[in-house]
Amino acid sequence: MRNEKWREETGLRAAEKARLPSDFIDVEHGLVDRKIFTDEAIYKDELKRIFGRAWNFMCHESQLPEVGSFFMNYIGEDQVIAVRDREGVIQVLINTCPHRGNTVCRAEQGKTRSFMCAYHGWNFDLNGDLIGVPGLDEFYRGGLKREDWGISKAAKVQSYKGFVFATFDPQSPDLDDYLGWVGKLGLDLMGTDRELVAVPGVQKNRIRCNWKLAVDNLFDWYHPKISHASAIRSGFFDEKLLYPADQMVMLGEYGHAVSGPKITMAEEEALAALSDSERKAVFDSLPGQSWRFTESAAETLGPVGIKSRGHPNIFPNLWVSTGGTQLCLRVPRGPAVTELWWFTFVDKNAPEEQKRKVVRMATHFFGPAGLLEQDDGENWNHSTRTCRETMTSRRRPLNFAMGKGQDMVEVDPSGQSRVETVINEHAQLWLYRSWAEWMEAEDWPALIANHAAEPRGRI
Ligand code: FES
Ligand SMILES: [Fe+2]
Repeated sequence: MRNEKWREETGLRAAEKARLPSDFIDVEHGLVDRKIFTDEAIYKDELKRIFGRAWNFMCHESQLPEVGSFFMNYIGEDQVIAVRDREGVIQVLINTCPHRGNTVCRAEQGKTRSFMCAYHGWNFDLNGDLIGVPGLDEFYRGGLKREDWGISKAAKVQSYKGFVFATFDPQSPDLDDYLGWVGKLGLDLMGTDRELVAVPGVQKNRIRCNWKLAVDNLFDWYHPKISHASAIRSGFFDEKLLYPADQMVMLGEYGHAVSGPKITMAEEEALAALSDSERKAVFDSLPGQSWRFTESAAETLGPVGIKSRGHPNIFPNLWVSTGGTQLCLRVPRGPAVTELWWFTFVDKNAPEEQKRKVVRMATHFFGPAGLLEQDDGENWNHSTRTCRETMTSRRRPLNFAMGKGQDMVEVDPSGQSRVETVINEHAQLWLYRSWAEWMEAEDWPALIANHAAEPRGRI
């Protein structure tokens, strides 16, 4: 009896081992296997195949204003330091000393002249070069070449309009090609024609959930009316704001997407009927939003993008949120733990009162003290837990089929494509489909050759 059970179990494990990532995602029926939210081996593979290859958001250039300014972040679970070196170039150093592996920096953000390891005192310049070794002559006696023992760095560091990204993979395409028009539109929805500056401090909190559930939720306009019912009843949020029926979805290569409400024809007409000053007053009443109604924003976002009030995700885990005032990284810290890092941005030239409103809104919406993410985190935690519980629940895939096969992708003469529809799960399914492509590709050339093109026609 015992042996039979053992055979059954090991047999099952062997069968599961042989499965490919695409076997976990049934794109045709909109089904996702629960195993991808809990399995340790899959998670370790994600660190290599997704985070190890992708362009990962590091920080905003305004967070590195001077030589020696640094900001600590992660690529997967590898802690990295984005730092402005003596030439003014942004370097991304891996926070580990080549001597015995200790970290060379413990502060989350700051300014320094060098990084001195607190174990034996090796000292590194801002570009990672080893510039000081206690006892170099006395103990190493010519046996250590300093030039061979600098800090390891990311393979490439590039910025898009002030947003700094880094990748560990030297074969990755340039950031611009990686982002494509959907990724760039996603970042432009921060209002990149303004002089954006990051507000000091990043709100961080930890939720016991798989990082992908936190990412797919950012496209989810189905849940607010239920999950956030108490926030709506408090009077702080308008139900219409959290549950808009008119939706627009844009799907880009490599998994980027923008999904959420669109400005409706009726809203457009009502706005057009206002005088310039009345229109400005409407948008000034929404903190940090008036940039959207400038000519340069219309030009930058394009005829389709300008109508979006949706949520972009820069694959894998950067949410461009809240109408150009916040970004949130969903940082993986194990298969069942995710850290949320909330960055808040203001227009450097906005009146002080406007800036204060943006910061107030940022603390009330999301983050550890926000009205919304308390509810969300609870749900993601329970979803993650049940995905690993019994064999019975695990064998039942999750349903991402809302709208599947019922909508059309339309292409604007500008080249921007979108689906205009009601609440749906197209972007969520696109996320998991892209996840499988990343996980299955052996390297960047394979991913470039085999990833899905932007969809056309029925979706
Ligand atoms: S571990 Fe850094 S100097 Fe020894
Ligand atoms: Fe939510």
